[in-house]
Amino acid sequence: MTANPSPAHRWIRWPAGDTSPRLGYGADYNPEQWPREVWKDDIRLMREAGVNIVSLAIFSWARLQPTADSWDFGWLDEVMDLLHAGGIAVDLATATASPPPWLTALHPEILPVTRTGETLWPGARQHWRPTSPVFRTHALRLVEELASRYANHSALAAWHVSNELGCHNVYDYSDDAARAFRIWLRERYGTLDALNHAWGTAFWSQHYSDWEQLLPPRLAASHPNPTQQLDFKRFSSDALRDHLRAERAVLSQITPDVPVTTNFMVMGETRGMDYASWAGDVDFVSNDHYVHPGPQGLDELSFSANLVSGIAGHRPWYLMEHSTSAVNWQHVNQAKLPGELARDSLLHVGHGADTVAFFQWRQSAAGAEKYHSAMVPHAGPDSEVFRAVTALGRTLQALAPVAGSTRKPARAGIVFDWDSWWTAEHDSHPTALLRYRQEALDWYSAFLALGVRADVVPTGTDFSGYDVLVAPVLHVVPTELAECLREFVETGGHLVTTYFSGIVDQHDHVHLGGHPGALRDLLGIRIEEFAPLPEGTEVRLDNGNRATLWTDAVTVTAPDVLTLARYADGPQTGRPALTRRAVGTGSAAYVSTRLGPEQLCGVLAQLLVAAGVDSELPEAARGRVDLTVRQNGGADFWFLANRTDAPVPLPGVEGELLAASAEPDHQAGTVVLPPRAVAVLRRPRSAA
Ligand code: GAL
Repeated sequence: MTANPSPAHRWIRWPAGDTSPRLGYGADYNPEQWPREVWKDDIRLMREAGVNIVSLAIFSWARLQPTADSWDFGWLDEVMDLLHAGGIAVDLATATASPPPWLTALHPEILPVTRTGETLWPGARQHWRPTSPVFRTHALRLVEELASRYANHSALAAWHVSNELGCHNVYDYSDDAARAFRIWLRERYGTLDALNHAWGTAFWSQHYSDWEQLLPPRLAASHPNPTQQLDFKRFSSDALRDHLRAERAVLSQITPDVPVTTNFMVMGETRGMDYASWAGDVDFVSNDHYVHPGPQGLDELSFSANLVSGIAGHRPWYLMEHSTSAVNWQHVNQAKLPGELARDSLLHVGHGADTVAFFQWRQSAAGAEKYHSAMVPHAGPDSEVFRAVTALGRTLQALAPVAGSTRKPARAGIVFDWDSWWTAEHDSHPTALLRYRQEALDWYSAFLALGVRADVVPTGTDFSGYDVLVAPVLHVVPTELAECLREFVETGGHLVTTYFSGIVDQHDHVHLGGHPGALRDLLGIRIEEFAPLPEGTEVRLDNGNRATLWTDAVTVTAPDVLTLARYADGPQTGRPALTRRAVGTGSAAYVSTRLGPEQLCGVLAQLLVAAGVDSELPEAARGRVDLTVRQNGGADFWFLANRTDAPVPLPGVEGELLAASAEPDHQAGTVVLPPRAVAVLRRPRSAA
């Protein structure tokens, strides 16, 4: 079960003497890509746009340390001074993200190695092994130099460790990794007996008699040991976190008062880092997010921002990167429509972001990201993008009263679990088609469609405040998690879980006696065999739903289980497909198949009625507006984001209009949200 250490929470140190509440606004700033003449213009335009913080020096290692024994800080001194004079704070990077050519030429042994034994050569970025002692030494030397030099610089507001740790180097199979993996395994298991048991090495003659025999799951003749795979994932996430800790230790010694962060990548299928277990190692959580256009693109943004807030314990966080318009790394990189830049940003703010930043300030003229949008595009400031950027700056200024407020917990939660994500999609399983995050996202889409707020929360969270918990594909359920869910239900909570949940323990060993082992008694059902569906096939349920991917041969084992729907065709015809059991003052429901977002709506609506959870939005806005709520001592802040390209009326929704990305219309006393607009209302604080 994922630990969810509570982040200490120390926020950006704004320049001395200035204590007025504000939201941060800025970007990655890469002045080294431009001649000095441009820098002054940058500061002028930043001020025009309302920028008050930038992340600096992220990819500057080669510029700061041109050779092993020479340093060049002059240009950075100048940029820091210019920014400070312009009233712009600096989230200063430790610059260790991309090692310079002299380092890799001198020490090619820091280069990562893939599963198939290929070296990842220099030429792009992040070509370093998280476990390389040589890399660590050089990186920490740079961190120390930077920290000592800028410790007392008035622009320094926060430290930005490396950049997107694990973006390109999460899985390294080198000899360094093997060595570190062995140490990690020794710490985890203590004895080889315990490891052999956990890894189930009686299978396929895999018994280990010496620690030195242990390896990362390199390309093998067939399916590598599943627990070895799972442990390697856990280890790889921990190895990167270790790097974060090592840099942080240096920073904390030299500048104990400066908060430290690093940018997480809670987005899409980026899965290598168990960020719930990293949150305790930063002073505030930061995240990068890029929209994947498509039918669930906006849902996914909201889902990710929501999960970041869950990881941050609902406290304010820093949106370190997103894009003003197109990115450069998707198959087809689409520009944003008018209104989307602000809407995307404000959705993050609604979910608790107290700083909105973009990659990057000025669009590069050269290099691999020259076609990636920025705050100042190739076209220059006389452009739609820059006008939208300055307009957003004004909106964020108007939202200053929101700064420091926390996200208001919803009554419903979706449980998100990295162990289950990693394990449920392993090879050698009943189906290769299962997608953990997609299932969770589909439930989130169903909540959005019903206009019901739901928090996305990691497994270590205290669930007691929720009335409803959806735990989709909660595959790994150790005993204590099963107990925690039982207690949730017995004390009045309503749990909904799905196919392939409760199947294995923390070692990826099956809970015996029938599925879903760890949750079998709670749900009052028993499954003898899984029955996944071939690709492209669907079966019908007797409530009219069409199901894909998975079915289970469910037998009801407790008299108080209600069958909400049965299979109407296919091999499970007549068997229960959806069940619900009243337990204590709560209930436990099971969805044995994949229904997709639209059909989940109906199922969810039914379950929410039983739990007494309703939408806070007027009927006309449900599904069309994403409502997020922040709160402070005196007020609730309602962020109402129009998800559609048409105006949406909000009859009966009242409050003081604090800010809006586009001025709402009023029709006969009803506020109407323009297409793709976000309005923020301040309302008296309500308890619920
Ligand atoms: C992030 C990265 C940035 C930039 C951006 C482009 O992964 O941190 O440096 O590459 O993506 O979308």
